[in-house]
Amino acid sequence: MSHSSNDNFEQFLSDNQKLLSVFKSPVFASSYFLSIEGIEGSGKSTQLAFIKQFLEQRNLRVLILREPGGTTFGERLRQAVLQTQSVLHPLAEAHLFAASRAQLLHEVIIAELSIPNTVIICDRYIDSSLVYQGKARGLGYQTILQIHQNFPLNLVPHLTFLLEIGLETSRQRQIKRNNPKDYFESQGDHFYKKLIDGYADVKKMFPGRVLAINGEQETEQVSQDITAALEQLLDNNHD
Ligand code: TYD
Repeated sequence: MSHSSNDNFEQFLSDNQKLLSVFKSPVFASSYFLSIEGIEGSGKSTQLAFIKQFLEQRNLRVLILREPGGTTFGERLRQAVLQTQSVLHPLAEAHLFAASRAQLLHEVIIAELSIPNTVIICDRYIDSSLVYQGKARGLGYQTILQIHQNFPLNLVPHLTFLLEIGLETSRQRQIKRNNPKDYFESQGDHFYKKLIDGYADVKKMFPGRVLAINGEQETEQVSQDITAALEQLLDNNHD
């Protein structure tokens, strides 16, 4: 990251402390809200399956939700965005994702977390909007934060696993997979570079919540890093 954009980001942080402070994790005695983030090929799906199994062994009830989606309305929005033939305005994208998220919070997340010993894991959440729409689409972080500042959109996970990989690893893993590309995935390297920079910023925006994990490591090592963080989270809350 260049010196000047770093300075701009530091300025953004100091200008927006009040706005950042409205984002809170929901308070439930024995239930947890988690999310997992990363660019294509970061290993989210593999680690999600691992986290689910790990938590179920601890007798927790685990629900995995994907964003956008997770409700009937959200799945329709997902189709609308990811299969659109026209290029959407970034503000339209941001509001569509936020609409899906608000409905998911209202219909599923809050209701389920009120049941003891539940863990909700979101495959992508607000950080994806900050990074994809705020950074890569150029809308700015402040706009995304403002869209989310009111309840229930101001609810953020207790812990977010950010699987970090470089551009080259993402490209190699995409070639191996050879999946058809969606609306975002068909963007070039320039877009992916912005995603990587955006996630680095998000880490600094929410240092207590976002845990960066080196996704370039062997799958087992990534899982071990995740396990250590989960154990700490579960132990802390049961003291
Ligand atoms: P998905 O097929 O779930 O991608 P992945 O397997 O990479 O998670 O598609 C979700 C796409 O939507 C992904 O490219 C990221 C993008 N997205 C946003 O741009 N903003 C958001 O707020 C969210 C939740 C997702």
